[in-house]
Amino acid sequence: MDLRCVACGERSPHDPLLLSCPRCGEALEVLLAPEVLAGKPEFAGRGVWRYGPLLPGGPAVSLGEGDTGLHRCERLGRDLGIPRLFVKNEGENPTGSFKDRGMTVGISLAIAAGVRAVACASTGNTSASMAAYAARAGLPAFVLVPAGRVAAGKLSQAVAHGAAIAEVEGSFDEAMELVLELARTRREVYLLNSINPYRLEGQKTLAFEVCEALGEAPDAVVLPMGNAGNVSAVWKGFQEFRALGRIGRLPRMIGVQAEGAAPLVRVLRDGASECRVERPETVATAIRIGAPVNWRKAVAAVRLSGGEAGTVTDAEILAAQRDLARLEGLFVEPAAASPIAYLRKRRIPEAATVVCVATGHGLKDPDAVGTAPVRRRRVPANLEALRAAFSEVWPGSGAHGLPIGS
Ligand SMILES: Cc1ncc(COP(=O)(O)O)c(C=O)c1O
Ligand SMILES: [Zn+2]
Repeated sequence: MDLRCVACGERSPHDPLLLSCPRCGEALEVLLAPEVLAGKPEFAGRGVWRYGPLLPGGPAVSLGEGDTGLHRCERLGRDLGIPRLFVKNEGENPTGSFKDRGMTVGISLAIAAGVRAVACASTGNTSASMAAYAARAGLPAFVLVPAGRVAAGKLSQAVAHGAAIAEVEGSFDEAMELVLELARTRREVYLLNSINPYRLEGQKTLAFEVCEALGEAPDAVVLPMGNAGNVSAVWKGFQEFRALGRIGRLPRMIGVQAEGAAPLVRVLRDGASECRVERPETVATAIRIGAPVNWRKAVAAVRLSGGEAGTVTDAEILAAQRDLARLEGLFVEPAAASPIAYLRKRRIPEAATVVCVATGHGLKDPDAVGTAPVRRRRVPANLEALRAAFSEVWPGSGAHGLPIGS
């Protein structure tokens, strides 16, 4: 598995410690060896490592990641006018986000390479995942997060797993620059951000699972973009399954960003020359990113797939989060609801089968639910008061003969 620079095309031999192009410094991607694709690999077992023949290294550290549910959402689909709407619920991963798919691969390689410690900058989920896998591997973990900008559930995971946490007085983008510098100057600290092309190899397995579950690629895949590693990884997965002859077509990749943090949409939709916004802002803290490190890969994924990129407002994100929770029983964090928010306002032409990637669990960010209308009262401990309370919260419940009023 060689590495190739996404900017200048320079090729380098497999090296888990090489995280940027030696010629121009840009991001790298992993190339599957032609003999792997020609050899018709067999898949066995479950989860991410079912696809071991298409992954670098072996499963040295695993928590049972992958194999998340692909939920058909008929009620929401009807509402949005999509004949076959599916939600791939990545909150079902061990630490509650898609990051685990990449982390099992990244940490396994880190151990094989003999690194002494791992590090990342994170809007929350990467640090939660890396801290868990590092704990399992017995490696020290160093995380940089923007101070006061990380959802409570995610921070508590990093704390619980014993990571050393630096709350950086600055934005995520500043934390990212800092950790890149740290990794450059201290080679024994292994960087597990999505700039690490090997971590993204694990994340491509989402595409494989979708293809195997549906028997074909969907018409469109909709997912949030932050640092934009995931959209790139998932696109790579579909391309590899196509090259293997496992699917006959490729899906359109639809990337969604929050209105206040949309550098990629500015490039893809508005033709901006620079992929950067200052002071990104959104309730979806996971994608509050102004300078995505994988922007070149994401631009290629959206353009080559014939897809598109667009924005949603915070209010639209929170409404979509409520819809998923109340209509489909799927509780996802705000960033993870942004694809549904996008489909609510934009019809994807000729897309009958659409897969939305719900990237993280709702419990990650309990505070975000604070703005939803609440049906909740404090009641004295007697039946009369209980009935009164429920008929107030749920008007007509008594009149309709529902059990609570009878
Ligand atoms: C829940 C969630 N959704 C989406 C993203 C964005 O993923 P990417 O940075 O690969 O674009 C993240 C990244 O932290 C995330 O945690
Ligand atoms: Zn290069």
